[in-house]
Amino acid sequence: MEDSRREILEELRREVENCRKCPLWKTRKKPVFGEGPVDAEIMLIGLGPGYHENIEGRPFVGAAGKLLDKLLELAGLNRTEVYITNVMKCYLPENKASEEEIEACTPYLDKQIEIIQPRIMVALGNVAAEYLFKKFGLKRQSMGKIHGKIYRVSSLILQAEIIPMYHPASALRNPPLRTVLMEDWRKLGEHLKNSMNRV
Ligand code: URA
Ligand code: SF4
Repeated sequence: MEDSRREILEELRREVENCRKCPLWKTRKKPVFGEGPVDAEIMLIGLGPGYHENIEGRPFVGAAGKLLDKLLELAGLNRTEVYITNVMKCYLPENKASEEEIEACTPYLDKQIEIIQPRIMVALGNVAAEYLFKKFGLKRQSMGKIHGKIYRVSSLILQAEIIPMYHPASALRNPPLRTVLMEDWRKLGEHLKNSMNRV
């Protein structure tokens, strides 16, 4: 069962490697598909590859990734036990994606969610949070209101929780946010402890 899920995920990875559905393929070096166990209970979803991710082909390997590692530790998590990916799979030269680009790329994220069936999806930043809220029919709200809160969602294919968080890069640009982020991740750790084996 897990082997076949892994195969389906690898097939999707190859599709992304050859994808030219939006103009971002032109500036990518290596697409960043995502990484982690196919049976991960927790999925982290960022915006898209930056400079370093584009070179390495792996998510969150730059400065924001260093902070993310610390945040994971605060929640009692290890990078190897979570699945990490992004809304966008190709390098974002201006660190943003247009609506059309998001529309072109998110079928890949949808399929990843379907295959991995995470119990918790942590949305890192506004774009991921907005996408997941829309996908599961929740009303769009500002990060200031929703960060660190738990949103239970269900669809035909999935029952899960969405937890929106500020993007780690936003705490690098705006240091006071770092405290908020650390507190949210510490609380996530508590939630994980309390809900273990209960879903
Ligand atoms: N920022 C993101 O949103 N994703 C990455 O993979 C790296 C930086
Ligand atoms: Fe394809 Fe997504 Fe890359 Fe655009 S960003 S080329 S849709 S993989």
